[in-house]
Amino acid sequence: MSIPNDFVVQTTGLSKTYPGTATPALTDISLEVSRGEIVVLLGLSGSGKSTLLRHIDGLETPTSGSVTSLGERVDALKGRELRELRGKIGFIFQQFELVGPLTVLENVLTGALSTLTGPRLGIWTYPKSLRRKALEHIDRVGLLERAYQRADTLSGGQQQRVAIARALMQDPEILLADEPVASLDPESSDQVMSLIREIAAERALTVVCSLHQVDLALSWGDRIVGLRGGAVVLDTPTEALSKDQVMEIYGRVAVSTSEIQAVEVELAEAREQVRAGVTRRAAERFAQDSASEEPA
Ligand SMILES: Nc1ncnc2c1ncn2[C@@H]1O[C@H](COP(=O)(O)OP(=O)(O)OP(=O)(O)O)[C@@H](O)[C@H]1O
Ligand SMILES: [Mg+2]
Repeated sequence: MSIPNDFVVQTTGLSKTYPGTATPALTDISLEVSRGEIVVLLGLSGSGKSTLLRHIDGLETPTSGSVTSLGERVDALKGRELRELRGKIGFIFQQFELVGPLTVLENVLTGALSTLTGPRLGIWTYPKSLRRKALEHIDRVGLLERAYQRADTLSGGQQQRVAIARALMQDPEILLADEPVASLDPESSDQVMSLIREIAAERALTVVCSLHQVDLALSWGDRIVGLRGGAVVLDTPTEALSKDQVMEIYGRVAVSTSEIQAVEVELAEAREQVRAGVTRRAAERFAQDSASEEPA
């Protein structure tokens, strides 16, 4: 089924309430993403970023509303059709999700598993054409000299680059990235984000990437979609945003700084009270134990 417009991703009135929960994770999200766009989902923890990404990939089913990815109604697909659609959508995660004891090359090859039948054990069981393709992707992310190194011996930034190479094995049309740089230092974050941007431009990839850092969102996104409490509170191109507008984004996406500070102070006090209580009880117990001990 094709849709009569050029949107690569489109959600209409998408709402999601997880079973057993009272508060919706997403409320009435209508979002359209064009081919080649780099959209950053920006929001605090719990604002619904991962939930939205998972709907685009068909990993979750909406409570109401619809999700269309690459012209297919994701929420209506099942089985083989859903797997085929997912094959065109690459996904990278905050924790990279590599198989640590396997080499970089083996990890990247697993990105092609959806195109193969039967299990694969070791690189020699993959067709030569795929091995060559994997090495090309590893070269593209700048890690060719580490192709035979165990993945868990790489730095975080390198591991995320391996995850990007693995996603490329699918020849994806959409790349979803869920906080891809949240575990990385600022320099590696910049490297990974610029790599994602370059590769997206080379392959006309559409990227939807969640981030919680406003500065990164502004530098790397074409467009920012701000989420708060499961609702879209902002949808704006990043081009020509003024400093004031940036500050306003902080205000809309986050609760106010004073609110955050107040909560932090309260939490610290509560922790202190618990700690003091534990210490007091331990001291009382020690005093009791000492009193009941027979003198030597
Ligand atoms: N499987 C689940 N079952 C029940 N509730 C869930 C589930 N997954 C997410 N939620 C809830 O849905 C809301 C949105 O969560 P989500 O993980 O999408 O937020 P997020 O913006 O990705 O947060 P973070 O920045 O911490 O990753 C939260 O209130 C969360 O507790
Ligand atoms: Mg998340």
